[in-house]
Order: sequence, then C-alpha cells, then structure tokens
Amino acid sequence: MCGIVGVVGRGPASAPLLDALRRLEYRGYDSAGIATLEAGSLTRRRAVGKLANLKSRLDSEPLSGRIGIGHTRWATHGRPDENNAHPHMVGGVALVHNGIIENHRELRNELKAAGAHFTSETDSEVVAHLVSRERKNGCEPVAAVRKVLPRLNGTFALAFLFEGHENLLIGARKGSPLAVGYGRGEMFLGSDAISLAPLTDVVAYLEDGDLAVLTREQIEFLDVNGERLHRASAKIAFSALAVHKGEHRHFMAKEIHEQPKVVGQTLAQYIDRNRTIRLPSVDVDFGTIDRVSIVACGTAFYAGLIAKYWFERYAKLPVEIDIASEFRYRDVPFGAGNLAIFVSQSGETADTLASLEFAKTHGQRVLSVVNVQTSTMARASNIVLPTLAGPEIGVASTKAFTCQLATLICIAIAAGRSRGVLSAEDESSLVRGLAEIPSYMARALELEPKVHELARKISTASDALFIGRGTNYPLALEGALKLKEVTYIHAEGYAAGELKHGPIALIDKNLPVIVIAPSDRTFEKAMSNTQEVIARGGPIILLTDQKGASLAASSACSVLELPDMPQSVAPLALAVPLQLLAYHSAAILGTDVDQPRNLAKSVTVE
Ligand code: G6P
Repeated sequence: MCGIVGVVGRGPASAPLLDALRRLEYRGYDSAGIATLEAGSLTRRRAVGKLANLKSRLDSEPLSGRIGIGHTRWATHGRPDENNAHPHMVGGVALVHNGIIENHRELRNELKAAGAHFTSETDSEVVAHLVSRERKNGCEPVAAVRKVLPRLNGTFALAFLFEGHENLLIGARKGSPLAVGYGRGEMFLGSDAISLAPLTDVVAYLEDGDLAVLTREQIEFLDVNGERLHRASAKIAFSALAVHKGEHRHFMAKEIHEQPKVVGQTLAQYIDRNRTIRLPSVDVDFGTIDRVSIVACGTAFYAGLIAKYWFERYAKLPVEIDIASEFRYRDVPFGAGNLAIFVSQSGETADTLASLEFAKTHGQRVLSVVNVQTSTMARASNIVLPTLAGPEIGVASTKAFTCQLATLICIAIAAGRSRGVLSAEDESSLVRGLAEIPSYMARALELEPKVHELARKISTASDALFIGRGTNYPLALEGALKLKEVTYIHAEGYAAGELKHGPIALIDKNLPVIVIAPSDRTFEKAMSNTQEVIARGGPIILLTDQKGASLAASSACSVLELPDMPQSVAPLALAVPLQLLAYHSAAILGTDVDQPRNLAKSVTVE
C-alpha cells in the first residue's frame, strides 16, 4: 500500500516528484524513492523512513533527469529497508507499484528458475523482471507491459520508465486508483488528484484494466488489447487544499480544535431554513427499503456503528453493519433494491471500495459519506454525501469522524421522516439539537486543561479500558482506538455490560477505566458497571454530563463534565474529550502524533 507518482516534464523531475510524494505520504511512510532517466540511463535514490530522509539524500546526491517516477511505501511484502524501497529497477525497466501482486511467489519461482536474480523481498519486483524479460524478447515498452499485466493477480497501480525512452511514461491500473494530469509540454501521473495539485488542475482517471501512455505532448489510454479508449478529463478545484498547523504543535491538535467549525459546515449542507433535513442528491425512497447496510473501516466503521443506533431509533430501519474486510467475503443476503452506505474519509480504502463494488453487483443503491470528493469511492457511488471536514492530515482520524456522524444522523432523520415514523415535531426538535452541536463541541474543548492533567496518569499506564452502553459503546471503541494509535498504549473498548464476562479479570489499581456515561437511558446500568470496577480498585475517569456528574457524585472518580445536551447529539461532543485524552497522552510520551509508527492515513491494500 503506497503512493506513486510520475512526471514527464520540461525541467528536472525530482522536485515536482518530491512535492507530489509529500501529498501522498498519508499512504505510508516506511520508505521513499525516486528514479529518473539521465542521458538515457536510469538512476535512483531511495531512503528508509519518512520523505524527509529521501529529500536529504537528494540534496547531497541530486538527480537531474526530466522524466521520473516516485514512491512512498507502506510495507506489505518485505521489511521497510532500502532494498525493498521502490523504484525497482531490472534490466532497463524501472517501476513503482501500489497494491499487492497475489501470485508473486509463483512468478518469482518461475523467474528464478529462468535465472533471474532478485534484490528485494517485494511482490513488486517480479513485475519489473517480467517486463524486462519481454523487452529482451524484443517487445516495445507498451507491448511488453501489455503482455505482462494479464499474468498479475491482485491489485495494482503501476508506473514504468524505460531506459533509452526519454519521452515515455506508462501507467496501468487494476484495483488501485491512478490519475493522470495534463500540463503544457509536460504530463503527470499520481495515485490521486491531490498529489498532482501543485502541478496541474486538469486530471483524468484510469479505469480498471486501463493503460495510460504519457509523453510530453499527449496522454493516450489503451485497453489490454491495445485498443484506444476515451477517458474524460476534468478541471479540479483545489483551493481548499492549503494545509498548515496554525498555532498548534500537531495537525491532530489543530484538527480536534477545528471540529465545531467543520461539523457546523457539514450540517449546514443538510439543514434547510425550515429546520428540516434536506438531502439534495438522495433520490432514495426510504419507504420501500427494508434494510440499510453500513460498511467502513477503522474510525469510519465506529461512526457507522453509532449510526446503526440512530437508524433504528429514528427511522425504525434495520441496519446490517460490518467491517469492509469482512463484509465483502460474507454471503450477505441482500434484499433487492436496498441501500448500502459506505463511510470513508479518504474514499480510497481498498476494502471499503471492494465492498462497494460487491454491494453494487448485488443490486444495492450505493451511497457514500466521504470527505475527499475527488476520490474513487465518490466517483463509484450512486449518491455522495460529502463531509466538509477539509483535508485531514493527522493519521488518527478526528474531525472526519465527527463530520461523518453529523452526516449520518441527518440521513437517519430524513429516512425516519420519509418512512412516516418520525413526526414533524420530533424532526424539528432533533434538528434544533443538531444546530447546537458546534457549541456543545466548543464546550467540550474547554475541558482541555483537565484532560491534559488526566493524560499524565494515562501516559504512565501500560493498558487502558474504555466502556460505555448504547451509542457510548462505539464511542468506547473509538476512544480506545485513538489511544492505541497515537500512544502505543494497549487499550480496549468494551460494551459496559460485557465487562463481567471477561475483562473484569484485568481490573486492578494500574488499569485506568474510562467510563463514557452521560445521563441517558443507559446511565444507571453504566453506573452499576462503574461500581463493579471501583469495588475492585480500578481507577475511573468518568466522562459524563452535568446531570450525570451530580448523580454519580463519587469521590472515587475523576470526572470530565460536559453540559447537559440532547441524547441524539451527545456522541459528537463526547468524542472530543476522548480525542484530547489520546492526543495529550501521546504528546506527553513524545510519540510521532501525526504519523504514528506502522500506520497509514489511507489503507489502499486489502
Ligand atoms: C486507516 C486510518 C484510520 C481510518 C481508516 C479508514 O486505518 O488510519 O484513521 O479510520 O483507515 O479510512 P477511511 O479513509 O476509509 O475513512
């Protein structure tokens, strides 16, 4: 899983390649590399770790070629060392790859038997060997690539350079996204349109099975038989892409603090002047469907899990929810013509995308709640409801999560209205609550100094438990995920009622338990579970509202108190202190908050 770029340019290619890679670092930062053609010969620089290391390498050993390819890696096959860093070069062919070649072992054995010598442990290197072998057999570059692609199982976005061909860059796609960009006398290729933003604003997207042949003068699209294809180009608006940390030390902190604003913007798209929900592009008759499927990964999955409670409560609509990597391999009994909702910040997560196609082939209407509107998922969906979180740079998702929640509750309310199970009065009372969310979130941010104090305790723990009931249960899962992502402290989220079925065995004075329990219909039961922890000496942090704090009135707890608020909107405000707790614990520990080890912002392999 990685990001790839290519430039066939007028000036030295390494600076624009590096700039484009910077925008793809969200796809991985285990290693990076660039290859260019200089006087007809391939030369490359590679470095382990973040892009900054490659930049230092290039500063001391510059590349001057005007045509090049680049890569930022999230290791799948082979350790993150320099040998496994892309580009891979074999016999006059250089390539970069995003995806996984599933039959790489078989191909490697075949190539080895024929005398090939491998220098990396990657699946990608087999492709370079295969193409180079076709070149040796006399094939021209395009023909060589065309011959090899049908032999590859799995997914790929590939870019190739060929020794002796100073005006030729070839891209190919199956499963992994790939875009090309048009310049004047120069052309570009990248894993997404955003990577090309500083270079051009005119882009076209490859479809599965496409080959793109780039020269300085033109871009030609071919199918695997070599037949020409038409792929429309479009002008992309990139104005919203300027990203700075502002006064914050980390993007994660900035993004947590942006939430009242971006959640407000997201909601404003869906609330009209009459204080009703309006989903302009959603031509779904909720009255005729009997089930909604919600599918996502990671934090987006937890947003979906909260939405399940909302769809059931406000729309009386059964919800089938699953993690994308499971959903697509199950024998889901889809009812014809139902709705499948896909939730994703990036719109590029491989498993979510594959599940989307799976649902489509089973006759589902596909709605995506997505933050990157130029993404593959947005383009593949029947209906797109954008979240307006703006670019999210911190790898651990924060503002995208609450914007997803804001959008999902609007869909649930609209569904309830159109199914005739939510009265106009109830809708307007829910909408009044939604309109107050930004101010509740702002109040939640005021807890920051107290959260910082509690983070000191958390940062010394080796484990932590998060518990809650109802919508507070998915929040517990998300709170635990946030903590482990950025602090590397082992954390688990549990339904509070499940505590006694196992995790209670872990409770002792060294295991902080974060209880998420505002004064909702599950409060009393959650308090009983809290008492069970206190009785066994477990330290408690209680995240609640004013009424909950007065009812709990226990000196055995540290309390984070939010204002009283409607039950429907509480998850958005409660998410904020959980995010702050993870952030401050990580900042105290000095981890790489915005780019935690082993993670990537967008997971483009299955
Ligand atoms: C990665 C990110 C998470 C994100 C998940 C799903 O694991 O680190 O923050 O929630 O992917 O990504 P998506 O872009 O589909 O929301």
